[in-house]
Amino acid sequence: MVVGKPFLTVDQIQKKNRELADRITADYRGKDLLAVGILKGAFIFFSDLVRLIQIPLTIDFLIASSYMKSETTGEIKIHYDIREDLADRDVLLVEDIVDTGITLNYIRERILQEEPRSLKICTFLDKKERREVDVPIDYVGFEIPNEFVVGYGLDYDNRYRNLPYVSIFKKTA
Ligand code: IMP
Ligand code: MG
Repeated sequence: MVVGKPFLTVDQIQKKNRELADRITADYRGKDLLAVGILKGAFIFFSDLVRLIQIPLTIDFLIASSYMKSETTGEIKIHYDIREDLADRDVLLVEDIVDTGITLNYIRERILQEEPRSLKICTFLDKKERREVDVPIDYVGFEIPNEFVVGYGLDYDNRYRNLPYVSIFKKTA
């Protein structure tokens, strides 16, 4: 079961999203912003964030998976790839959480091969102490401790994504 108490509340999340969106709006003014949401986890964060960005933009998605239950496998599968042309675009990758960094690093390297004009990364959560691969992150919502969290798009075994807040996941016997 999930511990019911929010670790990050709806209000905290909304406030942070506005801050991130304001920074992105300022940084990408006059550019050709292509926001790419990494599914499934980022679907809620992505849709909240893009609605707060106040410049024209294009969206696309990428479906990648690397996780079995709460253990990382280090193996990344692309189930759906970006359709937009990436050459000469200002690409902003939007991720739910960066843990070891393996997934994001793999996706980043893959996109760089298409020679975008710029590539930046925005993540809702950052579990920095778990990092194994150094990935440059430009926009971070919250740095969190090494706990497994669910809600606001994040899952355990594909469940709990619809919780409107973030909760620390604890298995009960
Ligand atoms: P990485 O490749 O180890 O950085 O793993 C990143 C992916 O693992 C994220 O996109 C999530 O799908 C998943 N993940 C990592 N930590 C958590 C967590 O605490 N809760 C839910 N999913 C997580
Ligand atoms: Mg994910």
